Amino acid sequence: MAPPVVTSIDVSSLPLIARGKVRDLYEVNDSTLLFSTTDRISAYDVVMENGIPFKGAVLTQLTAHWFSVLKEKIPDLKTHFITLDPPAGLTPAETELVRGRSMQVRKYKVFPIEAIVRGYITGSAWKEYETKGTVHGIPQLAGLKQCAAFPGGALYTPSTKAEMGAHDENISPEQAAKIVGDKYAGRIEKLALDLYKTGAEYARARGIIIADVKFEFGLDEATDEIVLIDEVLTPDSSRFWPAGKYETGRDQESFDKQYLRNWLTKEGLKAKEGVEVPQDIADATSSKYKEVFRMLTGKSLEEVL
Ligand SMILES: Nc1ncnc2c1ncn2[C@@H]1O[C@H](COP(=O)(O)OP(=O)(O)O)[C@@H](O)[C@H]1O
Ligand SMILES: [Mg+2]
Repeated sequence: MAPPVVTSIDVSSLPLIARGKVRDLYEVNDSTLLFSTTDRISAYDVVMENGIPFKGAVLTQLTAHWFSVLKEKIPDLKTHFITLDPPAGLTPAETELVRGRSMQVRKYKVFPIEAIVRGYITGSAWKEYETKGTVHGIPQLAGLKQCAAFPGGALYTPSTKAEMGAHDENISPEQAAKIVGDKYAGRIEKLALDLYKTGAEYARARGIIIADVKFEFGLDEATDEIVLIDEVLTPDSSRFWPAGKYETGRDQESFDKQYLRNWLTKEGLKAKEGVEVPQDIADATSSKYKEVFRMLTGKSLEEVL
């Protein structure tokens, strides 16, 4: 039986730190957060009224899977992950509510940029290239086709991390360095590129092209180390394309919010507030999230829950 769809995680036993578009964050203690993921879905920066079955569990379990894959391939990688176990001190109902969709993580000072890496030219990068021949202000070779791989390898194309309600803005690596400081900028860029390459290779062997991805990093102030935080290589933070259907010169099918975006556009509801997603669209989206989980981990979601 499908678990109930959860659009708000209410845990009165712990102090609430923040509600993002998708996650509700609680404080477990001074150094630990309960990073809990609802089934909320946003498209065009607006959160829908209802959730997507299993979405919070897919994002959480997939991120945990990636942490273990990436740590194996990049041994000195530091992540915020502690455990998938719910913290002690919750009521039995709260424990059931957060189980499977939450992890305990170390709390860090977050670098206020989105470390985006693009392997393929699509989305806002394609739009900029079509009109100006640049991507995040970086000149590109002429004649690239839509969704082509960048011929010189993946690009680091950071954006600002906007405050609640505002839109992220594309910036150059130089502007990103001003925000995070020269001391950390180069390390963040290198780590983001390494993580993308490692993840993309792993996914490609499993039939998925990772077109682009957004990472977030924190600073461990005690050791001055850069730490991989947030969600990692999920359908919410990356573009996943089925490799078998990939072809340049057009848009690709994708594993994420395509159904939802198509439906919103068709109904004239793009970027409108207060939208209720019909059950068939919610279920189709849920199936895509679960399918990508199975392809990347080799297991069904039910097997790991
Ligand atoms: N280890 C961490 N320490 C502190 N903050 C974190 C950590 N990991 C992630 N975050 C923050 O938690 C929030 C996650 O909630 P989410 O709903 O994804 O937010 P958003 O709407 O900004 O995407 C983000 O603001 C992210 O920067
Ligand atoms: Mg987020």
